[in-house]
Amino acid sequence: MTEPAIEFSNVSLRLGGSSIYDNLSFEIGAGEFVCLLGPSGCGKSTALRLIGDLMPWQGGSVRVEGMAPKNAWQKLAFVFQAPRLLPWKSALDNAAFGLEMRKPEVGVASRRARAGEELARLGLAADAHKMPAMLSGGERQRVAIARALALDPDIVLMDEPFSALDHNTRTRLRRQIVDLWQETRKTVLFVTHDIDEAIYLADRIIVLSKKPTVVSEVVTVSAARPRDIEGDAGLKAMRAHLISAFSSIETHDQQEQFA
Ligand SMILES: Nc1ncnc2c1ncn2[C@@H]1O[C@H](COP(=O)(O)OP(=O)(O)O)[C@@H](O)[C@H]1O
Ligand SMILES: [Mg+2]
Repeated sequence: MTEPAIEFSNVSLRLGGSSIYDNLSFEIGAGEFVCLLGPSGCGKSTALRLIGDLMPWQGGSVRVEGMAPKNAWQKLAFVFQAPRLLPWKSALDNAAFGLEMRKPEVGVASRRARAGEELARLGLAADAHKMPAMLSGGERQRVAIARALALDPDIVLMDEPFSALDHNTRTRLRRQIVDLWQETRKTVLFVTHDIDEAIYLADRIIVLSKKPTVVSEVVTVSAARPRDIEGDAGLKAMRAHLISAFSSIETHDQQEQFA
């Protein structure tokens, strides 16, 4: 059996005196597109921090391609909700910046060539010279995706990357990220709190409970891509199921707050 790309095994984590994870376990297979779906504050971003060796935990194990996170960070690239571009660098040099940080031994011309390829793949070839202030929100986020892909990571960790964008841009970028994934077959772990987004994107949806967080269920989405939730009875039923599962998680949460 091939090794999982990412494995959480009975991970427990306490922060500031409260329990965030209570024996959290899940696996992501190599090449899979997995969405981590859960209520606000359940520890989705924290899971990505553990994978990226940005934070310690107390119990259990986190493995990335079979390794401890501290030995695996070169396999990973991140895309966050905010694009985090340097305002004084062009789109091209922003897309090359991940490489500049991680692989300074690669010369500037090669870094720019790699970054240019990724910008072109994202439809931004003509915008490479523009400064971030000249780009739309969606274009900036595509530069951030190009910056991640220029590193040629095995695993891309995305933390609600489209949630700050307008509806049309978000829809377009979801389609584009599916195309990119089908082209590159990288492992993608995509955090979202948006049920439709998870159904549109994922091979599997890992649904997290409220804190102390465990996996509340795993939903496999086998429909062919590109997906049309409205036009597919199975996907509509999945959406209805997830909405009701989610509202019971959140209602439970409120009851506890008022108890
Ligand atoms: N450094 C910290 N100290 C204490 N609590 C923290 C810290 N970082 C995050 N938390 C708490 O951990 C929980 C999970 O946070 P986070 O992973 O950002 O949630 P999500 O991304 O699912 O919305 C939240 O309740 C948050 O308040
Ligand atoms: Mg978060």
